[in-house]
Amino acid sequence: MKALVLSGGSGTRLRPITYTSAKQLVPVANKPVLFYGLEAIAEAGIVEVGIVVGETGEEIRAAVDDGSRFGLKVTYIQQHAPLGLAHAVLIARDFLGDDDFVMYLGDNFVVGGIAPLVDGFRAERPEARILLTKVPNPSCFGVAELGADGQVVALEEKPQRPKSDLALVGVFLFTPAVHEAVRAISPSDRGELEISDAVQWMIDRRRDVRCTIISGYWKDTGNVTDMLEVNRSVLERVEAAVDGTVDEETEIIGRVRIEAGARVHGSRIVGPAVIGAGTVITDAYIGPFTAVAEDCRITDSEIEYSIVLAGASLTGVRRVEASLIGRHVTVTPAPRKPAAHRLILGDHSKVQISS
Ligand code: TTP
Repeated sequence: MKALVLSGGSGTRLRPITYTSAKQLVPVANKPVLFYGLEAIAEAGIVEVGIVVGETGEEIRAAVDDGSRFGLKVTYIQQHAPLGLAHAVLIARDFLGDDDFVMYLGDNFVVGGIAPLVDGFRAERPEARILLTKVPNPSCFGVAELGADGQVVALEEKPQRPKSDLALVGVFLFTPAVHEAVRAISPSDRGELEISDAVQWMIDRRRDVRCTIISGYWKDTGNVTDMLEVNRSVLERVEAAVDGTVDEETEIIGRVRIEAGARVHGSRIVGPAVIGAGTVITDAYIGPFTAVAEDCRITDSEIEYSIVLAGASLTGVRRVEASLIGRHVTVTPAPRKPAAHRLILGDHSKVQISS
């Protein structure tokens, strides 16, 4: 059994972060979201992994390398344009050969991993198994309609009038039977070869397509709200550790991980939270569910329920909440009256100002 991990795409919903960086490498509790997926694949006993990459391929290659640190053997598959999930399967044909495989979307997060699913698939070998979960907003997802016997009868991509509240989770299990389907379908209205169309093609031809409804935690981290929510959920399980230095005036409450080389002065940190290596926190408040990456500076500021990427700095700012702060971003107050907002924001940035 092999794995195909999709780490290309355009990432429009995470702009401007995705103008300069792969969304799969945005850290959740200071670890790229993609790494959680690769760990889950390794834990399922899979070794050979094909990673489909697009424009951000170089960055993904630099981060994952040959995969050996995850116990994996990684092959990179370049997708010249984000032409859809089924297109990714199409171009991975040589890598996949005649093996069964799990297809894993590189920006998805499944708590509890995929080992039982992969084991079940190895034992039963239907031609395809899709995963479904109940969501409150099915129109944002691929949605499955089930028949009376619980079999999947139809799949629809982002339907205006969804026929159920069961959304497709970003993990699929396939035998080589899927290759005929991805070759047979045509691009959708949005110009992509949809995996839901490929699975529908199999259903229409009475191929053995089964589904598993998962009740566990699953999130697609494709937008900021979900990314912050996954960060919250992972931080819930963070273990307290102080490997950096914390001075006497600092108060640490709850589970806080302070990584090696981080320094905290005269601050209050309320966990769960992580403070990355080399980061300096001075006279600041870091509230629950905050992950501050490496080499940041947070001075005389208040922040909570947020993700701060490497090298960012906040000075004299209160109060930042539910925010994703990009790499090497600088946030400061206006230096003199009038207290105007001076903004230099990348295209598609989103800012909410409290006054
Ligand atoms: P999506 O999040 O569905 O698509 P996207 O990355 O284009 O994002 P957006 O909707 O915000 O523009 O993709 C799911 C995963 O699959 C993600 O990790 C990117 C990857 N992907 C590919 O590798 N190739 C593709 O052609 C597409 C569409 C996605």
